Amino acid sequence: MDFRKKTIRDVDWEGKTALVRVDYNVPLKDGKVVEDMRIRASLPTINYLIEHGAKKIVLLSHLGRPNGQENPELSLRPVATRLAELMPKRLIAFVDTSIEGSIETALQKSPKDGGIILLENLRFWPEEEANSEEFARKIIERTKADVFVQDGFAVIHRAHASTDAMARLLPSVAGLLVEKEVSNLEGAISNPEHPVLVIIGGAKVADKQPMIDRFLPIADKIAVGGKIAADGYEATDEKIFVAKGFAENADGAKLDIDEASANEIIKMINEAKTIIWNGTMGMTEEAEFSAGSRKIAEAMGHLDGVKTIIGGGDTAGYVESLMKEDDSLHYSLVSTGGGASLELLSGKELPGLEVLANR
Ligand code: 3PG
Repeated sequence: MDFRKKTIRDVDWEGKTALVRVDYNVPLKDGKVVEDMRIRASLPTINYLIEHGAKKIVLLSHLGRPNGQENPELSLRPVATRLAELMPKRLIAFVDTSIEGSIETALQKSPKDGGIILLENLRFWPEEEANSEEFARKIIERTKADVFVQDGFAVIHRAHASTDAMARLLPSVAGLLVEKEVSNLEGAISNPEHPVLVIIGGAKVADKQPMIDRFLPIADKIAVGGKIAADGYEATDEKIFVAKGFAENADGAKLDIDEASANEIIKMINEAKTIIWNGTMGMTEEAEFSAGSRKIAEAMGHLDGVKTIIGGGDTAGYVESLMKEDDSLHYSLVSTGGGASLELLSGKELPGLEVLANR
């Protein structure tokens, strides 16, 4: 499917400074990055800009929800360390903003041309979530940025200074990750190859119902598992299958779909040409209750010639962990966006995408 927004391929980068919004909201433990999928996903865009002559790359991200206050536990410094490991030949400067909390002070420390700069967690400033134009303007002026690149797919459902205001102040294009995610996800809605199977799991029915409603006229089958099914989800249409059998713990809590339910879903997987999966089938954090999700991930991950899309933070994280154990598993897209992919698949407008220049 053609991507409807301009991308970094539409810009002459020679001598330009790029402000790149990435999503480095990654899990940390003891001051280290424990899962770097989102950092790795940003590399194609960064490498493209370097290879095409960009003078300076300023990376912007948030981490967690510090609510407009500096919080050392949510510093992006460990991310800068991981990024430097992934790009060993590049100078990565981390702009520490703990001094006086002013963005101007922070950016005075920016290194000279030719480098990659990662700015401290934008959400340490209340102006970021308030979508402040002044805040966006200051960052642009201080960095002397020429072009804004949106590559933080996981945050494009937010209208913040670094996803909305900034994009209104500069020529703004999509990065390669945003292009890949949006084309795959929008393509699955607007022009999918049939049969289309949507697999829904997870815990909160209110979060998933809009996606079920959106896909009811598009999908050939919708399979519902996870806690939603265990809590007694009722099918409103004959194309909806709801898992009925569950694996239980000693207290009788239904924590995974059982083998018979998983096998029913696998039959649908083997007949489909487009499969979109959002939401785990059980408590994947416990090995004993991850069998249903594992079976589905493995069935999807061994298909060829079928569009296979994994969305949702927990589902994608679980599938990523399986891919590390088994490199024969492959998918068309394992989305880096939890809320963003769900909102896109539910038919909502994504402010950080709409604001970018059209083709
Ligand atoms: C995410 O992890 O879903 C994104 O980074 C967005 O984070 P947020 O929900 O705190 O805006």
